[in-house]
Amino acid sequence: MDTNVVFMDETHIESEELSRAGALIKQGELVAFPTETVYGLGGDALQEDSARKIYAAKGRPSDNPLIIHIAKWEDIYYICRDVPKAAEKLADAFWPGPLTMILKKSDVVPFATTGGLDTVAVRLPGHAVARAFIEAAGGYVAAPSANVSGRPSPTLAKYVLEDMKGKIPLIIDGGEVGIGVESTIVDLTEETPVILRPGYITREMLENVLGEVTEDATMMESLKDVAPKAPGMKYRHYAPKGSLTIVAGDTEAVIKYINEACREAAGQGKRTGVLCTSETGSRYEADSVKCVGSRADESTVAQGLYKVLRECDEEELEVLFAESFDTEGIGQAIMNRLLKAAGHQVTQL
Ligand code: TXA
Ligand code: MG
Repeated sequence: MDTNVVFMDETHIESEELSRAGALIKQGELVAFPTETVYGLGGDALQEDSARKIYAAKGRPSDNPLIIHIAKWEDIYYICRDVPKAAEKLADAFWPGPLTMILKKSDVVPFATTGGLDTVAVRLPGHAVARAFIEAAGGYVAAPSANVSGRPSPTLAKYVLEDMKGKIPLIIDGGEVGIGVESTIVDLTEETPVILRPGYITREMLENVLGEVTEDATMMESLKDVAPKAPGMKYRHYAPKGSLTIVAGDTEAVIKYINEACREAAGQGKRTGVLCTSETGSRYEADSVKCVGSRADESTVAQGLYKVLRECDEEELEVLFAESFDTEGIGQAIMNRLLKAAGHQVTQL
């Protein structure tokens, strides 16, 4: 199959191209599209076969449910039942935007889309191209991140092409995404809302709207014998091919430790890499020093993280070290992804 790429950003939405993309979805094909978080691999959420195609293209286990993307709030009532007041409040505050809500599913949603669950994940994205595409596709687009399972989520169309070339007919290229880590997931089917995956919308922001909100115990720690509530969170995501260690502690000590460890690894003939910030970038010596973003604005770190993790593989780096981040604000989402990438390997100085 040939994979076409069409460029479309928020200032340049082509209605003819969009209807073509929408028609592909209605025919049961897959189309990758930009959102404000990461690129999605879209299929018709109401067709079982589309869900199967998504799992096949990603090489993803079919017990890992998909998020249904909608373009209008009212559409939630078609795919969900017993929509609670909390969902309305969150939508008022954060939709369109990087928040996914887990609600009870209605009968129109096939179990193939929800991985056999009686609940469904719903998101109304903040990206104008995403919403226009969802409308053109009939209103209900199931979309996981558009990467092959186990690779970092794509933040640029070229990474979607790398992973999906020959497997899907069309990629809508909207340029680099703004946020760079996947949406916050909040489960509203429990008495107290539970965050299943941290993202740009933080616990504090949710609590300001809802009152008490809790967090899945497995979110920041790897707990033996406890399964995460979002089935997808149990897989070892975003793992670079090299071995990655997060080094935490006083900045000067971290720099010294990483430089020594890189020297030692280089002595054993290994290619070394450091994931750091623009504040410290000039202080490291390794085969490849990657400034992910700036500590002065951690949203830049979130935006650059997956790109840098992919580059580490492109450059075949074998021994990798990353600086650590505070878990305030977007820092929690950054650390959640970094910890997974590192298989929870942390050296605390
Ligand atoms: O930002 C995002 O959310 C991106 C863009 C494309 O919208 N999408 C995304 O999808 O990250 P995906 O499939 O990579 O991650 C979806 C996560 C998985 O961890 C999955 O297990 C969880 O959502 N999930 C989906 N439905 C669920 C449900 N009914 N109950 C619990 N977790 C659910
Ligand atoms: Mg994903």
